[in-house]
Amino acid sequence: MDGISYSDKIPNNVNLSDDKALQRALEHWLPNYLKWWREMGPEDSQEFQVYLRTAISVDPSGWANFDYVKMPDYRWGIFLAPTAEGRSIQFGEHKGEPVWQEVPGEHRANLRRIIVTQGDTEPASVEQQRHLGLTCPSLYDLRNLFQVNVEEGRHLWAMVYLLHRYFGRDGREEAEAMLDRRSGDTDNPRILGAFNERTPDWLAFYMFTYFTDRDGKFQLSALAESGFDPLARTTKFMLTEEAHHMFVGESGVSRIIQRTCDVMKQLQTEDPIKIRSAGAIDLETLQRYLNFHYSVTIDLFGADQSSNAATFYSAGLKGRYEEAKRTDDHVLTEAAYRITDMANGQLVEREVPMLNSLNEVLRDDFIKDSIAGIGRWNKVIEKAGIPFRLTVPHKAFNRKIGTFANARVSPTGDLVSEAEWLASEKQWLPSDEDRAFVGSLMERVVEPGKFAGWIAPPAMGVNRQPLDFQYVRLN
Ligand SMILES: [Fe+2]
Ligand SMILES: [Fe+2]
Repeated sequence: MDGISYSDKIPNNVNLSDDKALQRALEHWLPNYLKWWREMGPEDSQEFQVYLRTAISVDPSGWANFDYVKMPDYRWGIFLAPTAEGRSIQFGEHKGEPVWQEVPGEHRANLRRIIVTQGDTEPASVEQQRHLGLTCPSLYDLRNLFQVNVEEGRHLWAMVYLLHRYFGRDGREEAEAMLDRRSGDTDNPRILGAFNERTPDWLAFYMFTYFTDRDGKFQLSALAESGFDPLARTTKFMLTEEAHHMFVGESGVSRIIQRTCDVMKQLQTEDPIKIRSAGAIDLETLQRYLNFHYSVTIDLFGADQSSNAATFYSAGLKGRYEEAKRTDDHVLTEAAYRITDMANGQLVEREVPMLNSLNEVLRDDFIKDSIAGIGRWNKVIEKAGIPFRLTVPHKAFNRKIGTFANARVSPTGDLVSEAEWLASEKQWLPSDEDRAFVGSLMERVVEPGKFAGWIAPPAMGVNRQPLDFQYVRLN
């Protein structure tokens, strides 16, 4: 790395070329990162020339530069959204005080934990998605997958920058550990449950980017409120990229629905077996995938009642989604919140102190946002004149974390017995047969302008390129 030009190799707006300590830390970490990328990044795709967007600065003209790049040569940058002059802490016990430019000693452990938990999700999703390139439905989709992957790689860089720059030796150790954990590994798994699930097919990928990247949006939005200014500014810039990931998910599922509806109309049928024989994915299967990804994702927000969440808020480390738009006192010591709970074998509504329910508050914001997009999917079905509608399951359905972890709740919100659950599970969650069927459709399509039979082409290409553009050059 001798004589490296930092602004060329690692685009940044953190004065990397003047920061010797940070350079040393990154120089040590970078080879391990690239080793991880080669081992765990997109399989058999490292030599492809991919039409990628690279951020080279934070202004609108700088974060959307398109060109062919081999993924290992991607310019992973370090960007913080511009400083807001005179910014003060917006919530909690330090409300009104100036934001911190260094880590306050008493919040060091909690901040490190927050950054590591977020950072760990970034390489995890790359690992989860690493086989998908082998079964891409088109070059357009392949390119979008790789774009998501390199940006998750950059998000890891963003969190590693914070660890290296502000947390000294233990920060460097945490940065290394994020390259050691592996999604789904029994001995050294990723930190959060959903990031240890498999993403075995493209329907799972689109559901993941719709729901689980949206969890990213909400976590990053809450961190963008942080009193620790470097964290707030870093996560704020990450959100520009997260929007694209959710677009990939929403449009991907929408195109699958479109194709299914076309087949249903053509064949004049609502019979899943006939739809499947025609090579499309029946709406019932889409609903089951939705149920799975939705329930696994809402677990990511944590326990409904959480003293950690209260501490993070009161200390000014993690705010609520759109904190500034809320009209309460932003201290919340007197505020109440309505949650769903269980009592005497029933689901009940109950008022609890909001401060302890902030995970639930963020989860509910996520749910509202998710439902909006599902409405847009339903428009596609409605337009085709088909009566079926996709819905989100009840929030107590299939939960592994929090109050409902040990309850059996149907998608419509009824408590059911273990026997009823077992009898109905196949209608509610993807079965092995569903996954095998979807898997059987996954065949690689790499001719420019061609799309697999189970998904409709998109309305337009990337960066105003035509649909038959060579989005990826396979060598
Ligand atoms: Fe990310
Ligand atoms: Fe993402």
